[in-house]
Amino acid sequence: MEKYSEPHIIDLPCIRDPRGNLTFVQNGDSRLPFDIARVYWTYDVPAGEERGSHAHHQGQELIVALSGSFNVELFDGVATRTFTLNRPFQGLYVPPGLWRTLDNFSSGSVCMVLTSVPYDEADYIRDYDEFIALSLGKNKDKE
Ligand code: TYD
Repeated sequence: MEKYSEPHIIDLPCIRDPRGNLTFVQNGDSRLPFDIARVYWTYDVPAGEERGSHAHHQGQELIVALSGSFNVELFDGVATRTFTLNRPFQGLYVPPGLWRTLDNFSSGSVCMVLTSVPYDEADYIRDYDEFIALSLGKNKDKE
């Protein structure tokens, strides 16, 4: 089975300029652990609303707060890690197999997600009990 990195913050290039700053990411960049197959973004998230609440079988993601801030909670079936994203030149790498919940969206925030796979509902684990059962199996394999 493929070995993925743990979740971590990736610093992206930031070209500072009196006219305004610029950040970019492209396939082949050694900072990016996967090739980008799809980009989506969420915006106009009402105060107090949550997004996510699912895991992926294969899809890897880089989550960027293009504007504003929000929290990303990652649960591997045992432990939870919470990351606050609020810098458009940083991305959170999320390997497959983690239950993610995004919340605490500030007003006007924009969450951009780069993913390693095209959209396919079959890659989603949306049922929490199914996720727990799968992660229990994986954690047993590690013992
Ligand atoms: P959902 O997975 O609930 O979004 P989030 O992860 O932000 O909570 O997706 C909402 C809807 O959008 C759902 O019907 C699937 C659809 N969708 C696509 O058609 N293509 C995509 O690339 C994504 C991410 C979602």
